[in-house]
Formats: sequence, C-alpha cells, structure tokens
Amino acid sequence: MKVLVIGNGGREHALAWKIAQSPRVNEVIIAPGNAGTAAEAKCTNADVSAEDIDGLLALAQECGVDLTVVGPEAPLAAGLVDRFQANGLRCFGPSQQAAQLEASKAFSKRFMQRHGIPTAQYQTITTVDDGMAFLDAIGLPAVIKADGLAAGKGVVIAETDDQVRATLEDMLTGQAFGEAGRQVVMEECLEGEEASFIVMAAGRDVVPMATSQDHKRRDNQDAGPNTGGMGAYSPAPVITQALQAQIMDTVIRPTVAGLEAEGMAFTGFLYAGIMLTADGPKVLEFNVRFGDPETQPIMMRLQSDLVDLIEAALNGELTDQHPQWDQRTALGVVVASKGYPGPHDKGQPITGLETIAGDAVKAFHAGTGVDANGQIITQGGRVLSVVALGEDVKTAQALAHDQLKHIAFDGAFYRTDIGQRAIDATDASRHAQ
Ligand code: AMP
Ligand code: GLY
Repeated sequence: MKVLVIGNGGREHALAWKIAQSPRVNEVIIAPGNAGTAAEAKCTNADVSAEDIDGLLALAQECGVDLTVVGPEAPLAAGLVDRFQANGLRCFGPSQQAAQLEASKAFSKRFMQRHGIPTAQYQTITTVDDGMAFLDAIGLPAVIKADGLAAGKGVVIAETDDQVRATLEDMLTGQAFGEAGRQVVMEECLEGEEASFIVMAAGRDVVPMATSQDHKRRDNQDAGPNTGGMGAYSPAPVITQALQAQIMDTVIRPTVAGLEAEGMAFTGFLYAGIMLTADGPKVLEFNVRFGDPETQPIMMRLQSDLVDLIEAALNGELTDQHPQWDQRTALGVVVASKGYPGPHDKGQPITGLETIAGDAVKAFHAGTGVDANGQIITQGGRVLSVVALGEDVKTAQALAHDQLKHIAFDGAFYRTDIGQRAIDATDASRHAQ
C-alpha cells in the first residue's frame, strides 16, 4: 500500500512513523513533511503545502496512493476529504460540513446545545454592547473566542470589564483575527483540570484512543501565554475508567449520533477538549483531528497496526477493533524556538539528534528542515518533541529529560515540568488506558 500523510508537524511525523511500521505499507508520502519524516524508513516528503488542495489531489493521483490521512484542521475545513472522495480516493478525515465542529466555535456550541452535550453556558456575539450585556449573566472572568480557526490563539480569558470590552473590540472590528473574529463566542469560565479525549470515529462507531493530557502554557507551572502545546503524556491518570465511560456516554456518543442524524456522519479522529468540572466533564472545544503534541505519546504506546484501524473505520468495521496499548507511560516534551508562541527564530542548526536512540525514546520533528549542506535546521516555533516510555510518569519524564540534554540549537527552550500533574495525582490505580 501507498499512504499519503498530509501535514508537517510532530503529529504528522508520529502518524507517518506509525503508518510506515505496518507490514501492509510499502511507501508513505508526507506532504510537505519535515526533516524527521524525510529520514524515516519507507517515507518520502513531497513539496506540496497542506493547504494546497488542488496540488494534493494531483499528487495523490499521480502517485496512485491507496489511502490518505489528514493531520491538520485547515485542509479538512477547506473540504479536502470531499474533493478526494469525489475523485474516488480513500481518505481518513471528516467532511467539510463535519469539520465545522472545529472550524466554527459558534457552530460547535449550537450543535452541543441542540444535542444536550455538556459545555459552558455561552452566547454568540456580534456587537460589543451585546457582549457587555451577556457579561452580566456570566460574570468575570469571561472567556472570549474568535469564531473561526485561529491556530489556538483565538481564546482570551478576560479578568476585568475593561479587558472584556477591549477584547471584544479587538476581535469584532476584524483587526486581530480577520474573518475568524467577525463573530465571537462568549462563555462562562469553567474551573477544573483539562484533559484531551480522542477517538477514532466512523458514523456512530467509535474507538477511544489512549487517554492523554497536554500542557498548553509556555512556561513551567502552567504560566505564560497559551501555545499549541508544550508537551503531553499518556495515559492521563485523571481519566479514570468511570470518567472515560462518562465522557463516552455524555459527550462522544451523543456527538457522533447527532452528527449522523444531521446528515454529516463523522469519519476521522475526533478530539474533545474537556474540562473536568465539579459538575462533571464539560466540552471546551472539539477538534476534528488528532492532537499535537498528544499524537506523539499516543502513537508511542499504540501496539496495534494503525493502518488496520483506519481501514476498518473506512470499511465500517470499527466496532470489531480493540487497539492494544503499551502499558507504560509515554511522555513527550516539546523543544521550541526563542520567541514562540510569538514571532520566532528560524534557520538555527540543531545538534545532538543522533544521540536519541533505543526503543524507549523517539524525537518527533515538527518545525525542522534541511539546509543546502544537509544540516538539520529549525524552521518553526515548535521544533521537535522528545518522547520517552517509562514504567511510570516519573521514569518517562526522567528519561525524556536525560535525552533532551543532548539536543541543542540557538534559542532552544522547553518546559521541565511536563507530567508533573500526573506525578502529583495520588490515585493513579484505576485509570483508563
Ligand atoms: P479552546 O480552543 O476553546 O479549547 O480554548 C483554548 C484554551 O482556553 C483551553 O484549552 C482552556 O485552557 C481555555 N478555555 C477555553 N474555554 C474555556 C472555558 N469556558 N473556561 C475556562 N477555560 C477555557
Ligand atoms: N494539543 C491541542 C491541540 O492539538 O489542539
């Protein structure tokens, strides 16, 4: 089989690496990929952007790919799956219509309301006055979200009236987020611990992936600005088996059933960002793709053949699948470039990658490239993540840190407390996979 993986991040490196391990696969093409995907066995990069739908379709047809797996949200929201399917190509990911669950926060909230899926109280706002009026209902702090895709940067938790007004003005005038901010969703601020819950879905059939948690803030102790994610681990001890069952019953099943009932049956990875509140799990957001950096530790633990799982989903046989997970903990730490999540450096040579060796550790590349001399250089904010497997979170964390010491580039930084929440969690005895 020939498989096309679309995207260029750490998530796509992990997916391509795992897909390439399938004995059924003889070639994986990654468009556009990174220096890490280029170096994997059976893998080659193709220089086509993840947002160039015409170019990707032409690539898939020219190469005769048997299966396409889409990493990021932008091509899904742009209708890549619909285009591929109309051209007779097998593709794992949701339709453009179903992708609205991530692409429009207003759509997503209305959908949750229609189907009784627990989430923060909200209102869709198009004027500053309406927003200030709604503030009376929800109180401070208030959460304000640009409606459209904003690469994880469209959410502000406003602590004061002035901040609420300024944020609304900023977003609604279209200056800060363009089209994505033409309308905003304003909602009550939920309290609790956050967890990622990711499933493979095909219509009403769902198979949960291993549980995970990411760390969104840039700095230790969850300080500093929000990022795409600075590290993640799996399993997440906070998700007990009982909680997993509750999330499946109150969030995941009603979501896939609701989508199917409304004529937009979901195929692909479905990601619910959950706040574990005192009133039970509530949805913060849906993503219509795998998480980054959650994919990396989850793929490290997946012992089953990912291609078998994806094919089963596409063939309507997902309920027969029971993915097997390594019982160890996988923990990944993201190494980022100076300035991230703001404007950041590029083109810095990376050293020490060759020291990462062995079955229990893996460096997944994200923003990396190769210069004219064959030297691997930085090319993005999140540069790579080092994932380690260990008997428990502490062991995995220690091994990841030990390997991270060897990796260097100018301006490199990473958090040193990834997984600390799990280490601190006392009752880790009955957690889910
Ligand atoms: P989102 O893109 O909607 O997941 O929002 C990004 C981050 O903002 C989440 O991971 C949370 O940390 C935070 N957030 C979003 N919505 C809320 C909410 N209603 N209450 C508290 N925190 C929130
Ligand atoms: N790690 C959060 C995300 O993928 O959106």
